[in-house]
Amino acid sequence: MSKIIVKGPVKLKGEVQISGSKNAALPILIGTVLVEGESIITNVPNLTDIVTTIRLLRSLGLKADFANNTVKVWGSNDIRHVAPYELITNMRASFLVAGPILARVGFAKVPYPGGCSIGSRPVDIHLKGFEAFGVDIRVEHGFVILKAKHKIKGTKFALDFPSVGATENLMMFASLAEGTTVLKNVAREPEIVDLADFLNAAGADVSGAGSDVITIHGVPKLQTVKHSVIPDRIEAATFICAAGITNSDIIISHIKLEHIQDIVKIVKKIGLNIEIIDKTAIRVMPGDKEYKPVNLKTEPYPGFSTDMQALIMSFLVMVNGKSIITENIFENRFMHVMELNRMGANIEVDGNKAIVHGVNKLSSTTVKMPDLRGGAALLIAALAAEGETTLYNIHHIMRGYESIKEKMQALGVEIA
Ligand code: EPZ
Repeated sequence: MSKIIVKGPVKLKGEVQISGSKNAALPILIGTVLVEGESIITNVPNLTDIVTTIRLLRSLGLKADFANNTVKVWGSNDIRHVAPYELITNMRASFLVAGPILARVGFAKVPYPGGCSIGSRPVDIHLKGFEAFGVDIRVEHGFVILKAKHKIKGTKFALDFPSVGATENLMMFASLAEGTTVLKNVAREPEIVDLADFLNAAGADVSGAGSDVITIHGVPKLQTVKHSVIPDRIEAATFICAAGITNSDIIISHIKLEHIQDIVKIVKKIGLNIEIIDKTAIRVMPGDKEYKPVNLKTEPYPGFSTDMQALIMSFLVMVNGKSIITENIFENRFMHVMELNRMGANIEVDGNKAIVHGVNKLSSTTVKMPDLRGGAALLIAALAAEGETTLYNIHHIMRGYESIKEKMQALGVEIA
């Protein structure tokens, strides 16, 4: 099992540059399937999930190069309609290929994506949306088989829940449909807006992204496009919480300030000092009063992001008093709790609520990363724990954090 060893407690110092957003880059790269011509995507983070996505594009018959955080994709004129099993099942976001393949070829065969550690993660909203367009759907031998019986026409569809993935899949699919599509109760995350910006840069006509209604006027084709991916707001939140738990004074740059308002509001409520340098950088400093516990509920954007839940929990484990964190988005996203408690935290789980009782210190031990953000939470806690903490299963954080070891070392962390 791949591992890292972190020596704590440590005070971070200096500046960290945030990479491009994984959750924006993945749908945008998959969206290149829609583009006849060349797509140049910049500010793409170098992550295992990105490499998987590029392998997926190549398996569909496209050509793709990835160097210096830039992905070039071309050759989409002869797309295979079957997505490979092993790539879809080891990265759920791959199910997003269904919409683009269907829009280009009229037929798609995509393995049913498995759940993962944080929940069953069904795709029923995606499939209901495709059916609203008149797409014929069958599930056979673990594959979802989608067939457009006729030329796809725009439609109206309201999502049962503002699913990020379903919003992305249906928005991409509708971009090449004839006529107008109105999607209601859609996800409003910044990554949805970035995907819409990419589609429009390629000649699509998508409006309303970021609100709960997206209108798409279909166009005959999407053409050569150049697009830069937005900064990763979850990575920024990770370093804010790392600074918080270690009482550090650091600069976090290459961010988009408007995308981190939720986490900034919460850490200021706890007691951190945040100085806004400009729209692309903040300075995080220790507060001058005792930190206060907070109660939080994860909600669809612009509510508090589920991806930040484990990160803020780590910061709160050493804040005196009782904080209550309610996870409303995924049914099993507290697997980091057990490992944090093994480091000396005092957290109880009651259904979808985690009650965090502040402790004065954490002690080093050996822990296993349970998933991407839970792993990041354990890394944050290890920075404050006394002694050397060994963290196993670091492949989880390699999926979502570019050069995380080097970034931590540059901030003064002894990490090997
Ligand atoms: C995206 O996942 C993100 N992944 C997740 O980030 C993020 O946690 C999630 O959105 C919520 O913000 C990427 O963007 C690649 P959803 P996605 O569809 O699209 C249920 C990370 O850490 N649901 O909004 O899969 C689902 O089970 C990852 O970077 C249905 O019931 O999330 C879940 O409970 C983890 N039916 C809730 O909705 C459906 O058809 C939110 O799922 C689809 C979803």
